Amino acid sequence: MTLDPRLAKSSPAVALAEDGLFLADVWDGLAGTPKTLPAKYFYDSAGSALFEEITVLPEYYPTRTELGILDDRGPEIAALLPAGAALVEFGSGSTAKLRRLLRHLPGLSAYVPVDVSEAFLHAQAETLRADFPDLSVQPVAADFTRSFALPPSLSEGARAGFFPGSTIGNFEPGEATRLLDVFGRILGEGATLIIGVDLVKDRDVLEAAYDDAAGVTAAFNLNLLHRINRDLGGAIDPDSFAHRALFNAEASRIEMHLVSRQAQTIRVGGRSFAFAEGESIHTENSYKYTLEGFRALAARAGWAPVTAWTDPNGLFSVHALRRAR
Ligand code: AVJ
Repeated sequence: MTLDPRLAKSSPAVALAEDGLFLADVWDGLAGTPKTLPAKYFYDSAGSALFEEITVLPEYYPTRTELGILDDRGPEIAALLPAGAALVEFGSGSTAKLRRLLRHLPGLSAYVPVDVSEAFLHAQAETLRADFPDLSVQPVAADFTRSFALPPSLSEGARAGFFPGSTIGNFEPGEATRLLDVFGRILGEGATLIIGVDLVKDRDVLEAAYDDAAGVTAAFNLNLLHRINRDLGGAIDPDSFAHRALFNAEASRIEMHLVSRQAQTIRVGGRSFAFAEGESIHTENSYKYTLEGFRALAARAGWAPVTAWTDPNGLFSVHALRRAR
């Protein structure tokens, strides 16, 4: 079911979200079998704050482990980026990880943060300019999953991409390949890509990272229902759903679900959706790779492996890739 965009514009009941119609996506997802909701809608202001809390949970190893790798390997990473290179960060967010790299990269000709959230992007660019007065910061407000143009003011010369956080894991493997190909087209021949990728590991460690004892990830998942109620006038009782995280070993991914505790019918924007007891809404996939598995995926998108770094416990990886000439 898709919504006529002209109708959407004239109807105040329809909330426009980042890059599409939130209501249309919710209707589509809840009408499907199995029921799904797109993970990109987790990140309203409440969801973004909850995600920040997740990143410092004892069970959630990815953020601190990746920061550790960037700290330890900063000089090696910097050595792979030619002097005068422009660095493009896809989905730059808070630039916390970029700052770890910047101190090793005095010769950068420009930093190009790319993010859909325009207000946040420009605020971050301002603070970065204040902290690094010699750095040329040239933000681009764009959805990095589509192709976009780099600023024309960017000087000719080497280009590098930065995509930390294992955000690549949220994409289906075929979509991830397509995205890496888009990055390659944007950055051009000979470019270097520095990308964070979470690794396959024990089920217990993975499931705890997505179902923490303090219940923050549960609140993050359930916030999607609160957001539907807030933004779309939904009448869902979030307490009637339970958070569930499980490692699907065949697909090599963590799945997050919202499981209906009872048989019920929920209403969103004038449509009803019936749930059986125990029926789930699949809200997120977070794919986990081996080093070889990720290299093979990147190779399908035209990226050759240069180096991959991991932490001493082999929890997380940062890959350096090069686009063939
Ligand atoms: C932001 C996509 C990397 O998959 O680990 C954290 C999102 N979901 N806890 C991840 C997330 C639940 C996170 N990424």
